[in-house]
Amino acid sequence: MLPLNTFKGKVAFITGGGTGLGKGMTTTLSMLGAECVISSRKLDVLKETANEITSQTGNKVHAIQCDVRDADSVKNAVTELIQVAGHPDVVINNAAGNFISPSERLSANAWRTITDIVLNGTAYITLEVGKELIKAGKGAAFLAITTIYAESGSGFVVPSASAKAGVEAMYKSLAGEWGRYGMRFNVIQPGPIKTKGAFSRLDPTGEFAGDMVTRIPCGRLGTAGEIANLATYLCSDYANWVSGAIIRMDGGEYVFMAGEFNNLKKVTNNQWDIMEKLIRKTKGS
Ligand code: COA
Repeated sequence: MLPLNTFKGKVAFITGGGTGLGKGMTTTLSMLGAECVISSRKLDVLKETANEITSQTGNKVHAIQCDVRDADSVKNAVTELIQVAGHPDVVINNAAGNFISPSERLSANAWRTITDIVLNGTAYITLEVGKELIKAGKGAAFLAITTIYAESGSGFVVPSASAKAGVEAMYKSLAGEWGRYGMRFNVIQPGPIKTKGAFSRLDPTGEFAGDMVTRIPCGRLGTAGEIANLATYLCSDYANWVSGAIIRMDGGEYVFMAGEFNNLKKVTNNQWDIMEKLIRKTKGS
């Protein structure tokens, strides 16, 4: 964790901050001195989280209802954010929507629902906060949480893959354009981190988690605390020269899946002895 008081006097706005990774990042920001504002559709969940974190850290956490799919709801939430805490120094676009499904089963509304939450939601929040910051002459660190398959694409989560790729293009583009206003834009691509929200939609029977672990060289899933450490670093003044970066954090899963020979990890030493002999025999042929 960063030094205590790293975020003292700073305001952090975290969408989807009531549960899962958003709650984890809010907790760490709050521990490091930030005044946090969390948003999601469910005000009761947000209030419970806000109270829990405040009682743990002693720092204020505000709860604001916001459906990121709805541009008016976002506008109202940003107005309220500025009223209760002031212009944010940190903005984390963490709210997401996803489920696994064969693409031939997706209705137009299913596609719209996911892309509205992930791509349009991130755009509404970023544009609304960004315009207010420009008016106020204030910079900020923006962070978006995407996924490792935003880069590769992935079957069975096609709306999410498409929308998250759009978010990455948006953040790289804004890093280029709005740097002049003192804003930084970065992205974290997490691999699998077990949270109820994600795993209930991506591994509903609990069957896939075991498989995931076998392809993660670090040998385990990630934790909310680990992503919170990277997120707080990227949004802190320690990272003031980091902008337009897309940082993969997945215990090595992406490169493991990409490397053609990586499955040879299952080969035993005895098998290697046999194969080495066979290979050496072919020398010169
Ligand atoms: N398979 C296929 N289609 C599905 C589906 C599934 N498992 N789940 C939902 N849909 C379709 C619905 O049928 C609907 O389309 P239709 O109107 O043509 O029938 C459309 O998607 C919207 O579903 P609905 O349940 O009305 O949306 P919602 O706004 O209540 O919920 C979700 C949005 C579906 C994304 C819900 O999972 C959610 O709220 N997620 C938020 C948290 C989250 O996803 N976290 C994981 C992040 S990794």
